[in-house]
Amino acid sequence: MGTVDSGSGGVIGGRFASELPAELLIERGELARRIGELGATLAELYRADEPPVLIGVLKGSTLFLADLMRAMHIHVVVDFMSISSYSHSGVVRIVKDLDEDVRDRHVVIVEDIVDTGLTLNYLRKTLQQRQPASLMAVTLLDKTARRIIPVALEYSAFEIPDVFVVGYGLDFQGFYRNAPDILAVRDVARLANDPRLLIAQLFGAKRREERGLQPPQPPLGSGLEG
Ligand code: IMP
Repeated sequence: MGTVDSGSGGVIGGRFASELPAELLIERGELARRIGELGATLAELYRADEPPVLIGVLKGSTLFLADLMRAMHIHVVVDFMSISSYSHSGVVRIVKDLDEDVRDRHVVIVEDIVDTGLTLNYLRKTLQQRQPASLMAVTLLDKTARRIIPVALEYSAFEIPDVFVVGYGLDFQGFYRNAPDILAVRDVARLANDPRLLIAQLFGAKRREERGLQPPQPPLGSGLEG
């Protein structure tokens, strides 16, 4: 393996220029450009080695992982882990463990966002105990200002300020993961009151009930009609 250089793509600013509930923070073209660059860098690091195991941390990293692995023009192996959100006690728990045995293999943790650092710290410790040949972490977003535990992070695509973000895999109460850009939420308390607040801004449409429409129906003759 090659050496690891610094890996951040620079700080992205977060100013609210309009009255909309969320503001565009990183648009899809910029995501694609930076992830392409990061994928090429990682591919060079592992080109002369056995295929690395990329570990996607569910569910937020799915879009990032999909684009990152396509930008790595080498063989890779993909696996997933799911970690419960830590409670006030700071306890983190594995909800879905790896299928792969990572002993003596090169492991890359692929995170959506490193915020307090608790999740990544737990993952690093847990995976290190399994004696991989090497272990590194890559994140799409790095909120350095929020860190409460210092944790090694070899690469981040974007450093962002202390704002709550959704889109490109990141959610609020399960919504907005499929938004193609990353948005900063203006008022998180307002979003907590109304988790669907951003739907109109992102997807334009009013809800079916608000438009007086029936629930979706399978096409006639498909055999699926109730
Ligand atoms: P940690 O605080 O570094 O342990 O991050 C825990 C998790 O919090 C991340 O993996 C995300 O799922 C979630 N998270 C932190 N900040 C944000 C955000 O701005 N938007 C959406 N999820 C976030």
